[in-house]
Amino acid sequence: MSEDAAGTRSRVLVVGATGRLGGSLARASLAAGHPTVALVRPHHLARPDSPSQRPLVAAGATLVEGSLEDYQSLLKAVRQVDVVICAVPTKQALEQKPLIRAIKEAGCVKRFIPAEFGADPTKVQIGDMAYDFYEKKIEIRHLIETEGIPHTYICCNFFMRYLLPSLVQPGLNAPPRDEMKIFGEGNTKGVFVKEGDVAQFTICTLDDPRTLNQTLYLRPPGNICSMNELADLWEMKINKSLKRVYITEEQLLKEILDAPFPLKMDLVFIYSAFVKGDHTYFEIDLLSEGTQLYPHVKYTTVGEYLDTLV
Ligand SMILES: NC(=O)c1ccc[n+]([C@@H]2O[C@H](COP(=O)([O-])OP(=O)(O)OC[C@H]3O[C@@H](n4cnc5c(N)ncnc54)[C@H](OP(=O)(O)O)[C@@H]3O)[C@@H](O)[C@H]2O)c1
Repeated sequence: MSEDAAGTRSRVLVVGATGRLGGSLARASLAAGHPTVALVRPHHLARPDSPSQRPLVAAGATLVEGSLEDYQSLLKAVRQVDVVICAVPTKQALEQKPLIRAIKEAGCVKRFIPAEFGADPTKVQIGDMAYDFYEKKIEIRHLIETEGIPHTYICCNFFMRYLLPSLVQPGLNAPPRDEMKIFGEGNTKGVFVKEGDVAQFTICTLDDPRTLNQTLYLRPPGNICSMNELADLWEMKINKSLKRVYITEEQLLKEILDAPFPLKMDLVFIYSAFVKGDHTYFEIDLLSEGTQLYPHVKYTTVGEYLDTLV
């Protein structure tokens, strides 16, 4: 569904469109026929042919100058659209506050999709191990709900570009060929979704009343894997058995304590997904899962992704 009740496609503003996910969101929005505006910071506009802007322009996006620090630029951009999607990094999550204020003041936005795009921050069970990573997202959710802003939260779990290129082996930049670390007992399942697919599912929600003020979860069949299953799959692809080295929960917690940044955060996210089961331990309504709601979206499976690494 990408049309509203009147049969017109909503106009979309993407904040963060020069970024990796934001670029995919803007292109998916345009491909689905939504007139799409990209808020671009002034330093980009001086370089119209830059690699982050050229694909946006080629796809038909309208570029407008602005930033989260410039309230008037936000208000002006928000006034041109029906939907706002924000894709700034999580460390900047609280910088979305002026954007929320602009959405409230403009009064024309039918849907806001804040920068989340990870595990459900209200479900993770790792206490304060993630250094306010999830608390910031929860604070933004509270503000959105207190202000009565129509919204959809996208909980896609891991992007494939994060951790999967090494088969969840922090420090490696390709999958292992001889020995693989398995964190925990190896049977707890995490979820991986390709960024372009996250973008497509996100765009499907924009005019869909079923996702209004709801969370969209992504748990695509074929993309929900334990570490043992990832190892099995990879062994099949390379036609070779790997030595599996099991890292107990206790050992992993010690590694987290001793690790420098950013390795520490990788280990925390691995602990969250593959030991605590934060992507999958809770039941979700079928009508809140992307592949159930939008079966027409063709997505990349983990197996297909691993084929590209053989
Ligand atoms: N689930 C996962 O595995 C996973 C992994 C990575 C990211 N994510 C999520 O994906 C989302 C986007 O992350 P990303 O890695 O795609 O980000 P990214 O590539 O770093 O892009 C960030 C974008 O935000 C823009 N931006 C930064 N500060 C801004 C400001 N003050 N005003 C306006 N725009 C500003 C940047 O503009 P400039 O080009 O001007 O800098 C850029 O377009 C986040 O919600 C993050 O949590 C999820």
